[in-house]
Amino acid sequence: MPSRSLTPDELIDRGNLPRHVAIIMDGNGRWAKARGVPRLMGHRAGRESVREAVKGCVALGVEVLTLYTFSIENWKRPRREVQALMTILRQTLREEREELRRQNVRLQVIGRLDDLSEPVRDAIDETRRHLAECTGMLLNLALSYSGRAELVDAIARMLREQARQPIAPADVDEAFVAGHLATAGLPDPDLLIRTSGEMRLSNFMLWQLAYTELWITGTLWPDFRRRHLYEAVADFQRRERRFGRVD
Ligand code: IPE
Ligand code: IPE
Ligand code: MG
Repeated sequence: MPSRSLTPDELIDRGNLPRHVAIIMDGNGRWAKARGVPRLMGHRAGRESVREAVKGCVALGVEVLTLYTFSIENWKRPRREVQALMTILRQTLREEREELRRQNVRLQVIGRLDDLSEPVRDAIDETRRHLAECTGMLLNLALSYSGRAELVDAIARMLREQARQPIAPADVDEAFVAGHLATAGLPDPDLLIRTSGEMRLSNFMLWQLAYTELWITGTLWPDFRRRHLYEAVADFQRRERRFGRVD
């Protein structure tokens, strides 16, 4: 096992790069607890890790980076923590958008956006407008998102369409379902990274992760740097994806 982490160029030379990387950014609270500081400090520190993940994915030519930013279940956290997370999100969108534009990054948000406060929705809209001319990597933020809610919303959308125009059972196939999800048009994630060691999906992209390669690290999200991403990608490149077939 090489101890030195590979550079983006070396990883690109090897070929077989993930087109879509998804990350469950976990462990901010534990990072803060280990330092005896409020959880909020962990969330703040996680911002640098987001920057690193974006830069690393851009350097590798990844097409889509999905970040699990706030789950529907996270609304059950104490009000103060939720408010702090929303404030950090708003500030991050405002303060990072120039750098995102410099990196030619586009922005998309998936989840129940109606659940978000107006200032947060405004910050998303402003950032999206700011990046409207960009043509590079898609940064896809999952916000007030859960996989089951996405499926529920997709079925409701199908029923609304059905009311206007009948849907024949024969029209319903995987492409039809995928086309009604928030991720319509995006490739499924090739690589899922979860930090802080938890071995679960926590209601993330239940449909899309069907054949995704998983890479779980004990590293806490605020400690995550580009070299961790490169390590995950190098590991991904060594794997044989069989999709149920032999060899
Ligand atoms: C991830 O860190 C951030 C969000 C889920 C919003 P956590 O806040 O879940 O950190 P831990 O899991 O308590 O360490
Ligand atoms: C998953 O992390 C959600 C996000 C990273 C946004 P959680 O910390 O909420 O997951 P659980 O509760 O440990 O499953
Ligand atoms: Mg957590």
